[in-house]
Amino acid sequence: MLGAVQLGLLAACVVLFVPMGMAGWHLSRNKMLFFSGLLFITLAVGVHLTPYFPSVSDFVTSVSSIAVVDDRDSCISLLHEIAWEVKPTGVFDPLKNYTVNFSKYWEWKGSNSVAYCEFQKLGKPDVMDLLNGSWVMVAGDSQARFFTLLLLSLVLDSEHMESVKGNLFKRHSNYQAVVDKIGMKLDFIWAPYTTNLTDLVIEFKQNRNYPDVLVMGTGLWDMLHITNASDYGDSLRLLRSSIASLLPISPEFGTDGPVTGSVSVRSPHLFWLGMPTLVNSMLNTEEKRVKMTNLRLVAYNRELEKNMLLQQDGGPFQLLDIGSLSWNCGIRCTDDGMHYDGAVYEAAVHILLNALLIKSHQKL
Ligand SMILES: *[C@@H]1O[C@H](CO)[C@@H](O)[C@H](O)[C@H]1NC(C)=O
Ligand SMILES: *[C@@H]1O[C@H](CO)[C@@H](O)[C@H](O)[C@H]1NC(C)=O
Ligand SMILES: *[C@@H]1O[C@H](CO)[C@@H](O)[C@H](O)[C@H]1NC(C)=O
Ligand SMILES: *[C@@H]1O[C@H](CO)[C@@H](O)[C@H](O)[C@H]1NC(C)=O
Ligand SMILES: *[C@@H]1O[C@H](CO)[C@@H](O)[C@H](O)[C@H]1NC(C)=O
Repeated sequence: MLGAVQLGLLAACVVLFVPMGMAGWHLSRNKMLFFSGLLFITLAVGVHLTPYFPSVSDFVTSVSSIAVVDDRDSCISLLHEIAWEVKPTGVFDPLKNYTVNFSKYWEWKGSNSVAYCEFQKLGKPDVMDLLNGSWVMVAGDSQARFFTLLLLSLVLDSEHMESVKGNLFKRHSNYQAVVDKIGMKLDFIWAPYTTNLTDLVIEFKQNRNYPDVLVMGTGLWDMLHITNASDYGDSLRLLRSSIASLLPISPEFGTDGPVTGSVSVRSPHLFWLGMPTLVNSMLNTEEKRVKMTNLRLVAYNRELEKNMLLQQDGGPFQLLDIGSLSWNCGIRCTDDGMHYDGAVYEAAVHILLNALLIKSHQKL
């Protein structure tokens, strides 16, 4: 049987040479039109019949699946293309100086991201569907706490959220929520330094069990208390290598790892919670203003890149770019120059959920 490529070439030759040949025989204009019409109809019928030939339809399917893979990659890169609308709300009260509130609204910009990649702010039923039966862990500093809060607000009722807020924001403590309805477990782990994250990964390895979705991020505490970017880089390198040895593709897991359930075979979805934009003049202590400069922030971010933590640099983590989200939301989205309005972390949560959707090819 002829392959699809040969068929295509044959058709092209027919279209090109048959009318040329006829012109050579000095056919009248009407006869030329007649033959071209006939040719067109023949080819059109041929094209519509091709799906019924197995080899041709196989070819077509393989081409379209390649196209889908490309689309998914380009969609991941569009996830952070978000536009903000920050507007004053209510009436300005001159007696209360700066108590004007701003409403923060965000959406994906550009028609591609929404129409083509189908990005969407997921509602509660969709989020529950997506996270049904999964173990999610968020480990890091106070930013990770805000991220956890916003993620929980998408799966829990508002009456539960009050008690969550109280427990989640106990200083320097861990927090666990179990959403019985969908068998989902969410852990927040207080892990302000990169070494704390590495310890956590080592623990996963010992227990031979790890979350389905793992969100990690550090940097702010290191900037404030250690203040040495190259040391930070070293700690990142250690984290990266412990992550690499955790993943099931490593020989250790591939050969003697027990298959106690799907979890130990699946690799976790890894996300890195990036550092926010720092508004130095708004930081609330002198020490922070001196140590957490933008120059140092740049140096810390460069270490992240240099040590290849992020997928864009060939590493394991997909970035949740709080830096760009907070920058675009702007100065009105922060009170202390470091922690941002819930809307910023909400956007990051929706970016994560859409990334999971893309990765799991799951259709809602
Ligand atoms: C601003 O927001 C706070 C807390 O959300 C609320 O209590 C207050 O009434 C709001 N003020 C105005 C002027 O909208
Ligand atoms: C408003 O600001 C002025 C000057 O900064 C200050 O004196 C005043 O106490 C402030 N009023 C309130 C209600 O905060
Ligand atoms: C969660 O998944 C289980 C089994 O996979 C299913 O029976 C259940 O209906 C799902 N729950 C929700 C809320 O989607
Ligand atoms: C995190 O790491 C630091 C430095 O290694 C250590 O002092 C601290 O106890 C750790 N914190 C937690 C919660 O593990
Ligand atoms: C950072 O630490 C390294 C050693 O780990 C040291 O060589 C370097 O001088 C330190 N840099 C600063 C700015 O303190």
